[in-house]
Amino acid sequence: MMNSPFLFDTKTVNYIIGDGALEQAAKLFTQYQSVFILMDKNVEKFCLDVLMSKLPDIKVRGYIKIPAGESSKSIEHATHIWESLTNMGASRDSLLINLGGGVVSDIGGFCASTFKRGLPFINIPTTLLAQVDASIGGKTGIDFLSFKNQVGLFVDPKAVVIDPVFLKTLEFKYWQSGFAEVTKHALIMDKELWKLLGDRKFTEIEEWNKIIMRSAKDKIDIVRYDKTEHGIRKILNFGHTIGHAIETFYLKSDQPITHGQAIAAGIICETWISSKMVKLECDNVEEVIHRIDINFNRLPITEKDIPKMMLLMRQDKKIIDGDIKFSLLRKLGKAVHDIGGISAELIRDSFLFYINNKKCN
Ligand SMILES: NC(=O)c1ccc[n+]([C@@H]2O[C@H](COP(=O)([O-])OP(=O)(O)OC[C@H]3O[C@@H](n4cnc5c(N)ncnc54)[C@H](O)[C@@H]3O)[C@@H](O)[C@H]2O)c1
Repeated sequence: MMNSPFLFDTKTVNYIIGDGALEQAAKLFTQYQSVFILMDKNVEKFCLDVLMSKLPDIKVRGYIKIPAGESSKSIEHATHIWESLTNMGASRDSLLINLGGGVVSDIGGFCASTFKRGLPFINIPTTLLAQVDASIGGKTGIDFLSFKNQVGLFVDPKAVVIDPVFLKTLEFKYWQSGFAEVTKHALIMDKELWKLLGDRKFTEIEEWNKIIMRSAKDKIDIVRYDKTEHGIRKILNFGHTIGHAIETFYLKSDQPITHGQAIAAGIICETWISSKMVKLECDNVEEVIHRIDINFNRLPITEKDIPKMMLLMRQDKKIIDGDIKFSLLRKLGKAVHDIGGISAELIRDSFLFYINNKKCN
């Protein structure tokens, strides 16, 4: 599967992944007489020319631009997108291309699927995080009343075209952010990927094409069996129960961090909880922590922050009857989901384990 683009048609979504994916995807666009491209300002600067040079025959009718960053995933920007589609005469035969990171694919998918009861869309992700995660799986939406992803729906794109060519211009912090999700995929389901990533800094990796193909395929394999997250898809939440609380805590502060930095911290806490709840061996815990620590600085969380983060966890979507269900690691490359009965004390201890840089025992 590894050297030419990897083609995978799940009957609902056509995936084209790897070096050369854009050229390979050309015929997907020929059936659409009017194409609209949604992007943010950085993507316009760094990625639009790349796209048009590889796919010069796309019949672009209009461009829709939003500012870069999470604050664009809002109802105001959704309105701007619906207005632009209306003013430019988009119809159900048109196509929306979401060219960009997870912000663009989330809001673009949401706006397309609600416009005139459903405009087809294709995701062309341009960040590592979007290439291995956000563009795949049909979760679309916007933030609302300061809650992340509060309004949205599950809708599949017609296709996802993942070409690593775009990543040349990506900033360090966004490479790092995507790397947390790549690491998570390896840990929950792909021991081979864990080996491929190796005991090294992500900046030393050269085999990105291979790694992106593998990591994206891992996510596809999960979501095609469980699109709406009632079963196996929940393993993708490993590192995210605590990670999301940390992310929200920092979003409310004046020192915002990336999604991946929060998830990296969440992975450390939840790996330690895995050793207590599902018998993950301490050697494995130390291996995971070592790999995270060579790629992410520890966040300056203090003991007095813990109650605030635990309160934020109470808003987690995985709470059933007051019991937060975790996805945990049974071993490297194998996760289990719906693990309940984890006491507040154990969760607090996992934060202390992180803060005090403790050893597993
Ligand atoms: N739908 C899902 O399943 C899912 C999964 C994970 C994350 N997400 C969402 O994804 C979003 C985060 O995604 P993200 O990290 O891609 O953020 P992002 O879309 O904000 O992109 C990060 C930054 O990189 C810039 N950028 C994009 N491509 C570039 C390129 N090729 N070169 C240079 N700069 C480039 C963007 O302008 C932005 O400033 C969050 O809103 C999160 O909720 C969704």
